[in-house]
Amino acid sequence: MTTSHLKHIALIAISALALVALIVFFQMRGHNASLTAPGIVAENFGGPFTLTDYAGHTVTDKNYAGRWRLIYFGFTYCPAICPTELAKITQTMKLLGDKADQITPIFISLDPARDTPDVIAGYVTMFDKRFVGLTGTPEQIKQVAKDYKIYYAKVEDPALSDYTIDHSSFIYFIDPDDNLRAIYRINDTAETMAVEIASRLEGASP
Ligand code: NI
Repeated sequence: MTTSHLKHIALIAISALALVALIVFFQMRGHNASLTAPGIVAENFGGPFTLTDYAGHTVTDKNYAGRWRLIYFGFTYCPAICPTELAKITQTMKLLGDKADQITPIFISLDPARDTPDVIAGYVTMFDKRFVGLTGTPEQIKQVAKDYKIYYAKVEDPALSDYTIDHSSFIYFIDPDDNLRAIYRINDTAETMAVEIASRLEGASP
C-alpha cells in the first residue's frame, strides 16, 4: 500500500465521519427545534390511555381527541387542593363564556379504590356539568399518571379516619392535537387562565 493510498483512505474516513457528525447535528437540531416549538410546553407528554368514565363506560384518549382539554388529576376525598382547583377550572370555563364550548374539562382520579364512577359523577358535576370524570384500575391509573407526569402516593394520616393521597397539582391545558400548551399551578388565578386560554383558542394555529 502506497502513501497516496493511505491518504486516500484517510480522506474517505474523515469524509464519512464528517457526514455522520452532520447527520447527528441535524437530528439533534431537529429535536431541539421541536422541543422549543412555539406554544408547546413539553414533548413526550401524555399519550394513549384506557379508563372508565363516570357513566361506567370504557373510554380512551381518542374520545377527547380534537378537543381542547383542561385535565386535572386528584381524588374526590381531597380536603382542600382538589376542590379549589376544580372550582378554578369551573370559574375559568365560566369566564370564557361561549369559547369554553371548545374545551372539555377532565378530572382523573388518583384514588380508584374509593372513587367509583358513581362517586366521581356526584363530585365533578357539582362543579361544572361539562366535566368528564375518569377512573380505572389501579394499573390504568398508575400508567396514565406516569404518562402525564403526576406523582401520587397513599399516605396514612393519624389525624384522619382514612388514608389520604399526596399528589402533584397541575391543571394541564392540552390542544386538539394532544400538545401540552400550558400548565397552571395553585397560584394561577381563573382570571389569568381565562385570558391566556382565550388568546390560544382565538389564535388556535400552532
Ligand atoms: Ni387533592
